[in-house]
Amino acid sequence: MNSPACRLLVLPLLALAGACAAGDAAIRTDGSLVRPPAAAQAPQPTSPWRDPPEMRQFIDDLMARMTLQEKIGQLTLLSSDWDVTGPTLRDSYKQDIRAGNVGAIFNAVTATYTRELQRLAVEETRLKIPLLFGYDVIHGHRTIFPISLGEAASWDLVAIEKASRVAATEAAAEGIHWTFAPMVDVARDPRWGRISEGSGEDVYLGSEIAKARVRGFQGDDLMALDTVLATAKHFAGYGAGQAGRDYHTVDMSDRVLRDTYLPPFKAALDAGAASIMTSFNELHGIPASGSKYLLTDILRHEWGFDGFVVTDYTSINEMVPHGYARDDAQAGEQAINAGVDMDLQGAVFMTHLKKSVEEGRVTEARVDQAARRILEMKYRLGLFDDPYRYSDPAREKATIYKPEHIEAARDVARKSMVLLKNEHGTLPLTASARRIAVIGPLGNSKEDMIGSWAAAGDRKEKPVTLLEGLRARAGKGVTIEHVKGAGYGFNDSGDTAGFADALALARKSDIIIAAMGEKWDMTGEAASRTSLDLPGAQEALLKELKKTGKPIVLVLMSGRPNSIEWAAENVDAILHAWYPGTMGGHAIADVLFGDYNPSGKLPVTFPRNVGQVPIHYDMKNTGRPYTADKQGQKYLSRYLNTPNTPLYPFGYGLSYTTFGYSSVTLDRASIRPGETLTASVTVTNSGRRAGEEVVQLYVRDLIGSVTRPVKELKGFRKIMLQPGQSERVSFTLSDRDLAFHRADMSYGAEPGAFKLFIGTSSDTVSEADFTLAE
Ligand code: NOJ
Repeated sequence: MNSPACRLLVLPLLALAGACAAGDAAIRTDGSLVRPPAAAQAPQPTSPWRDPPEMRQFIDDLMARMTLQEKIGQLTLLSSDWDVTGPTLRDSYKQDIRAGNVGAIFNAVTATYTRELQRLAVEETRLKIPLLFGYDVIHGHRTIFPISLGEAASWDLVAIEKASRVAATEAAAEGIHWTFAPMVDVARDPRWGRISEGSGEDVYLGSEIAKARVRGFQGDDLMALDTVLATAKHFAGYGAGQAGRDYHTVDMSDRVLRDTYLPPFKAALDAGAASIMTSFNELHGIPASGSKYLLTDILRHEWGFDGFVVTDYTSINEMVPHGYARDDAQAGEQAINAGVDMDLQGAVFMTHLKKSVEEGRVTEARVDQAARRILEMKYRLGLFDDPYRYSDPAREKATIYKPEHIEAARDVARKSMVLLKNEHGTLPLTASARRIAVIGPLGNSKEDMIGSWAAAGDRKEKPVTLLEGLRARAGKGVTIEHVKGAGYGFNDSGDTAGFADALALARKSDIIIAAMGEKWDMTGEAASRTSLDLPGAQEALLKELKKTGKPIVLVLMSGRPNSIEWAAENVDAILHAWYPGTMGGHAIADVLFGDYNPSGKLPVTFPRNVGQVPIHYDMKNTGRPYTADKQGQKYLSRYLNTPNTPLYPFGYGLSYTTFGYSSVTLDRASIRPGETLTASVTVTNSGRRAGEEVVQLYVRDLIGSVTRPVKELKGFRKIMLQPGQSERVSFTLSDRDLAFHRADMSYGAEPGAFKLFIGTSSDTVSEADFTLAE
């Protein structure tokens, strides 16, 4: 720290990493940072927030009055007993708050309760530092939207941003300042229950959605009363746990980490995410909460992140069973020295960190740095002006379940649904469907509609079931009856007792809506499966229903790709509805009756069976690719009993109309670094209904210093076309879009030949060739 201007720096990272030495930075009177002109040694911080100039002084003065234990208190986040999202609870959390040992609380909701806890902090502690309230506000707070994977299937960034903003608005009115979302883990293993919480398998789509969600939660003003701090989680590699088992070991090359798993985190931070949460897994043999490589080298030194790092639930303590620390005290030292700022629920910092500092294994400067990052965030939220500003019972009452929130939930839900099959004009339902049989365990289940991680959403009363939605929409004279027919529990597979009723109903009906899938808690945390089949006796029931000869529409509700090969071949139509949220039943009815023309596309590949996993569209070609001209040959990269192709590819989804694509034209056949190329197609609605289409752009780098995927998504546009209408859709690419980690791990594109593809899904495309010149 050299000059007076430099001493004013509000961003500790720059100071820490020696940016002032490289060229002083200063604060403008409007609070924005004047960057040093010379190349600084540290990267520029990514945060979009504008800090008032007096903040630094305020925090300095406050910290000067804090004891070491009080500073450590700011690094401690404990759960209240209002909600439980992990294996431990600490009954004494209120005493801990009073003692000044807690800086933040999660799992506390309602304006009244957050006020009550806030009062303990600001009236009963020595320094009256307000608490920060966090919560898992993932896909809605009270009004619940489709699960995150479902939202991702909309490929509609405006809708996704809106869903996050509605969630933030409702949560903030209850006193929540901070959400543990978005979950930006790339997930390619549908056995993993948490695939439901993210945006699927793709790096580009996942990064765009990460940005949309951060914008939705956080807006551009942290002080605003309808925004909450966002958290990009789980850093890093959590989606790649061995064999799809939760919390399991992760080991991958640094190239795969950086090309596939890290970009959505970087995107979230570039969009301004205020915090980042560590993951439970180990990576390269080191638990993520103890990884200096992740938390300091990449996060702070490479990316210049200047928000704060929170651990996942007791993940510091878990470094002991991981076999990385001999006890909690050592784990705490490893975590804070690696770069963790806040301990979620482990109480490790609270219990052991003071001694670690006193005995010299952790510096007080490191504790100060972490405490400062958290106090600054509280300042940016306006909590030092008014600690109760978010917890407002009147605003809460006026905000929760507002009609426009409910309407937005219905809109996003129907946008999220993916029509996987539609033969014989089965959908939309016509007036000839006078007697409709709704058969299956998800036909009239309220609790399932909102899926897992449904925050403070009501599971008992509010959700509209499929049966209710259909009845509300169907005209007079239409009879809709429901029987469960089969259970969906893992132990229900031999239970055929309900089949007779289901078949009797089916026989007297014109059409069967089979509402099948998984129980809501079969995905989410700690919900991995070794099979992707429909659980229980559902498929057996489907086979019996088929024998009635009645048309069957399978409405699938689940949080992962299921192996539904038999259904895909044998039923007439399939709609994937995910867990569609509070308004789910109405939204499904909108789609089934054709009031909304489905437009969702799969954000994740559907395998034919679990043995194909991992399967994703951007795989490598191998040295022995199994191509169409080599059918039946041996010694190729293939299975003996299953095709290599998935059941449904990434990017796939039908509409009630059809879209025609022209061939692809390029404005030039070759570009140099820094130049751009424009690729265009004309898309025509060739059917008889208005509809939306997601036009997708992929590229393939044919030869690289390391092998490249057979296709990578690089852009998409969702367009609405009236019957007969055409639109020219153009994408602009430059060498930046072609960059990857090369053989020497430097990042950039390599000159050479490329293929470019535009189409309606990852496997249905028109292509063109171009080169990147030196
Ligand atoms: C554990 C989960 O992994 C994480 O996603 C969540 O935010 C925390 N629990 C807090 O509930």
